[in-house]
Amino acid sequence: MNTIFKSFPAIFLQVCILSLAACNQSANKTSTASTMTDSTTTATLPPSSGFEKTIDDKQTHLYILKNKNGVQAALTNYGAHLIRLAVPDKAGKMTDIVLGFDNIDAYKKALSAYYGATIGRYGNRIAKGHFVLEGRRYDLFINNKPNTLHGGEKGFNDVIWDAKQINDHTISFTYLAKDMEEGYPGNLNCKVTYELTDDNAVKISYEATTDKTTVVNLTNHSYFNLNGVGSGTILNHEVQLKAGNYTPVDSTLIPNGKIEPVTGTPFDFTKPATIGSRINDNNEQLKNGKGYDHNFVLDKHDITTPIATVIGDKSGIKLEIFTKEPGLQFYSGNFMTGGNTLLGGKTDDYRTGFAMETQHYPDSPNQPQFPSTVLKPGETYKTVTIYKFSVVK
Ligand code: GLA
Repeated sequence: MNTIFKSFPAIFLQVCILSLAACNQSANKTSTASTMTDSTTTATLPPSSGFEKTIDDKQTHLYILKNKNGVQAALTNYGAHLIRLAVPDKAGKMTDIVLGFDNIDAYKKALSAYYGATIGRYGNRIAKGHFVLEGRRYDLFINNKPNTLHGGEKGFNDVIWDAKQINDHTISFTYLAKDMEEGYPGNLNCKVTYELTDDNAVKISYEATTDKTTVVNLTNHSYFNLNGVGSGTILNHEVQLKAGNYTPVDSTLIPNGKIEPVTGTPFDFTKPATIGSRINDNNEQLKNGKGYDHNFVLDKHDITTPIATVIGDKSGIKLEIFTKEPGLQFYSGNFMTGGNTLLGGKTDDYRTGFAMETQHYPDSPNQPQFPSTVLKPGETYKTVTIYKFSVVK
């Protein structure tokens, strides 16, 4: 357990556990709406009714994970989305820090998509919607002109996964993406496992195998607001990245092929800086991204040390990210337009959430100098990312 939580009075833990028990009598698939509203918590669980649907002849549900500190996460097998995550702030108040919706229809209608979703078969952009693999050209759906973004027209965020809840803190989702689904070759068997650990971390493990050579780049697209969902801008959050280089992009957000040092640029987060401190600098890359929407080349990616640290200025909630992936897409919510009603009636707006998507570099299938995203029959794609939460006082 994290030392910060060790020092919490026992009474606080008891209140959390009691309120959790009262709110969530069924630890697994929830059968009733529940809201945590006692004096120590403001976090909410979504009503399960909004997630009980039949889509593409498959049943969707809401699933709850919990740990011994009263931290809880809500997920659905629709797009293997992380819907909610509530963690304690510096005063011990449970705070929702992942942007999500109260029902599946809202996910489908969202103005800017991908909230908390599992992204695949290829996370981020593929230039002009095509690539060549083993001498054959594959054409994809262009859903983000002139490129393909996050898998295409119906990415893994919009399909129904099979769910298997392993215990009260672990769930696995599996999905078979068919050969040529969205234009990608190979039947791809995918598994994503979410584990909520007792040190207040969400560990996401990905696995995939194929029967034909293909490309794979899976990630999670949670938007975080560490001050709490609906609490306003993320521009005062402090960020530190262990990334001495990044991949500059053209005006359509496709890497120009170079790997450039961040030194002396607004992309230098090797020392802590707030997201907003340089976001409006007169810088061509910031103009191309309309803010931060870039792949950072991670110095190390072996999950022994955090590659990213973000602190909510008001809440003191600290997020540390560990990953086996070579890149981190840091997106400062530049395309968020507002107009979405989030959990419990809260709303989003421009730059009120940020995403840190651990992944291979955008457009790797067309850029052989980047780490390869090719998966061959007989190989297993395996990767892990951990989002760990604690507080600074
Ligand atoms: C990724 C992309 C962004 C944006 C979001 C979704 O982070 O890099 O440009 O498309 O997804 O809105």
